[in-house]
Amino acid sequence: VPSRLPLPKPFSVPLPKASVLRPDRAGRILITQRVADLQILPGVRTPVWGYDGTFPGPTIETRSGSPVTITHTNALPVPTVTHLHGGHTPADSDGWPTDLLLPQRMSDGNGGTHAGHTGMTGMADPEARLRTSTREYRYPMDQPAATLWYHDHRMDFTGPAVWRGLAGMHLVRDDHEDSLSLPRDERELPLLIADRSFDADGSFRYPSVDPTLQRPGVADEWMSGVLGDVMLVNGAPWPVAEVDAARYRLRILNAGNARRLSLTLDADGTRLPFVQIGSDGGLLAAPRERGEITLAPGERIDAVVDFAALPPGRQVTMRNGIGGGGTALVMRFAVARRGRDDSRVPARLAERPPARDIPAGAPRRNFLFARGSDGRTAMWTINGEPFRPQRAVATIQRDRTEIWRLTSNVHHPVHVHLDPFLVLGREDDGLKDTVDMLPGETLEIAVRFSDYVGRYVLHCHNLEHEDMAMMARFDVR
Ligand code: C2O
Ligand code: CU
Repeated sequence: VPSRLPLPKPFSVPLPKASVLRPDRAGRILITQRVADLQILPGVRTPVWGYDGTFPGPTIETRSGSPVTITHTNALPVPTVTHLHGGHTPADSDGWPTDLLLPQRMSDGNGGTHAGHTGMTGMADPEARLRTSTREYRYPMDQPAATLWYHDHRMDFTGPAVWRGLAGMHLVRDDHEDSLSLPRDERELPLLIADRSFDADGSFRYPSVDPTLQRPGVADEWMSGVLGDVMLVNGAPWPVAEVDAARYRLRILNAGNARRLSLTLDADGTRLPFVQIGSDGGLLAAPRERGEITLAPGERIDAVVDFAALPPGRQVTMRNGIGGGGTALVMRFAVARRGRDDSRVPARLAERPPARDIPAGAPRRNFLFARGSDGRTAMWTINGEPFRPQRAVATIQRDRTEIWRLTSNVHHPVHVHLDPFLVLGREDDGLKDTVDMLPGETLEIAVRFSDYVGRYVLHCHNLEHEDMAMMARFDVR
């Protein structure tokens, strides 16, 4: 979607750092989802829907093994659903797509009007639990250190809600990771990368068929996903970060609705490598040097970059090899000074790398991601079916490894809730919860749900595909 405003010169706005929220002594965090006016483009007012009125939302930091209760209050004009992406979360706090947190205005008395929310498929969810405007999401955080994120997940409207700002990072830390001497504090940079477009009035421009968001869907030409023409990092257009000539840990998230990224670091013509140390599910077994990082929407990469060889004054530009025009540039690092550096990247990272032995006779399932239609409306489907909240496409025994064979027609970043999986044949990718499927590709993943039972979803993380029903329910028993 092209912007209708003059855009700023790249690398003129400093990289913002989201505020950090940590649980209080009782393990509690409070967040209010509300409308706020932000200055994203210099001199321009942009209304956003934000967690605590910010975009990105605050970075939540939790400790592995310490449960946290996050109380969300919805002061927005629409219902919302909050999902912790990458969280090993009990079903009732996972952000089921129809488990709505109602706007304050609707929750006093007439919240029942939303019981009729039927979605793309025209079917109501009899199990939908309607809530008031405040609710507690309980996260046991019984999982190793990893880079997670949280975002809106309302059925049919995740795309426009995230586009307007409902996304933030969540870092899980643990003692093992703390003992590794990785770069930390000022030298750890969460980078939430998202493309957006702007309307003439400064608002984010999104091609909804219905701007009041009663009717789902986007204008036909955006059925493949909505792309912006401005790259925002932590909510700033093509920002610049001053760095020391030292190692930095970059927690990179592709929070774009539909844009794939292929990131490189260009230091005046020479390529500076990323040393990947983690993936969606946490630390890799061992570091892996990569000249280029490809990230589909929803995926994260945890990487260390060493600026030590660069003299002060040098600049390193993060480029996106897939984007055209303004989206070919992401951000810049400007080496400002020399600095002491006690950090290192040890040769062994994860405390307990995942076992790769697949039991013989593991049950197998096939999932085909393809376009479909119900005769009237174009949709995206899994095994020919659009999302129906009341229909489980698989019932899976807890603690049992299964092999899922995923096939796709076009690019689909496939995301599975609850527990991360291994991509078979991609030995060094680590534990993933979102996998970038290429057009025509078939992939096998080994899944094992060991944390909780209940109903969960798998879906395409191209948010427009997700909103056009490319989602399926599975039950763990
Ligand atoms: Cu990041 Cu089901 O979503
Ligand atoms: Cu898709």
